Amino acid sequence: MTQSADDFVYTLPGIPAMTPYDFDRATRLIKARTGIVLGNHKEDMVARNLGLYTKKLGLQKVSDYLDHLEYNTSSPEWERFITIFTINHTAFYREQHHFDILADYVKTLEKPIAIWSSACSTGEEAYSIAMTLYENISIPENGVQVVATDIDTVAVERARQGIYTLDRVQPIPQPLLKKYFYRGTGSFSGMARVKPSLQKIVEFGVANLVSGEGWPQGRTFDAVFCRNTMIYFDRPTQTQILERFAKIIKPGGLLFVGHSENFSHMTSAFKLQGQTVYVRT
Ligand SMILES: C[S@@+](CC[C@H](N)C(=O)[O-])C[C@H]1O[C@@H](n2cnc3c(N)ncnc32)[C@H](O)[C@@H]1O
Repeated sequence: MTQSADDFVYTLPGIPAMTPYDFDRATRLIKARTGIVLGNHKEDMVARNLGLYTKKLGLQKVSDYLDHLEYNTSSPEWERFITIFTINHTAFYREQHHFDILADYVKTLEKPIAIWSSACSTGEEAYSIAMTLYENISIPENGVQVVATDIDTVAVERARQGIYTLDRVQPIPQPLLKKYFYRGTGSFSGMARVKPSLQKIVEFGVANLVSGEGWPQGRTFDAVFCRNTMIYFDRPTQTQILERFAKIIKPGGLLFVGHSENFSHMTSAFKLQGQTVYVRT
């Protein structure tokens, strides 16, 4: 990537260049749509993807691509645009102590039980919740539900498929891996696939935490996982989402947040229980 000293245009061979104005506009569009606040250090990556997508759409300039997005708010191209900015890093049993707390908590609940993985990425969090439920309570049909959503349609599709490389499933204890996953053979060798028996209690969908689009309507939850996601939002956006969570988490229900997220002074609707877990007051 070269950056011209004269005009600070990001150019890559074979694709349209991005100007600083394009970059600012892209970050404004993405913040308004997803809440994600992007730092300048991502300029190279954004330039590369915007250039590629502009070309793919048969447009001449990155500004044409951004015009397309801005003036066609329901264009399918938005899905691809959003994936430039989402960070999907996740893992099975990430922050293990949350699943220990969940295991104890669900034993105290009466059915029906509903848990929402609200930024589920590629599904590892949702399946870890589902395994914790199976291992700690009896699951009658329709009595237990994990709702799993993300704004990133590509990530949600991968989550729905439930196919992972063996290194990704490595944090899952061996007996659980055997119980809840098939080991791939032939063209799927080196992969593991979630069994339908586990998958059947997980309902995947696309939802935007900021706009509320796709938000589970008319439902209440015993626990919501919103981990390592609010960190990308500004404070007013975080407050707005916490207020929405307060309306759908049952009194005494739990909100699990990421290891570097702290919302203690932002709302009276939740009280910190410890270890980045909040209780709905
Ligand atoms: C770092 S991952 C966290 C995944 C998982 N919760 C975990 O902690 O392992 C952050 C996820 O937030 C999603 N995300 C970002 N903005 C969002 C929004 N406005 N609504 C819903 N999901 C969003 C991204 O697509 C990404 O998959």
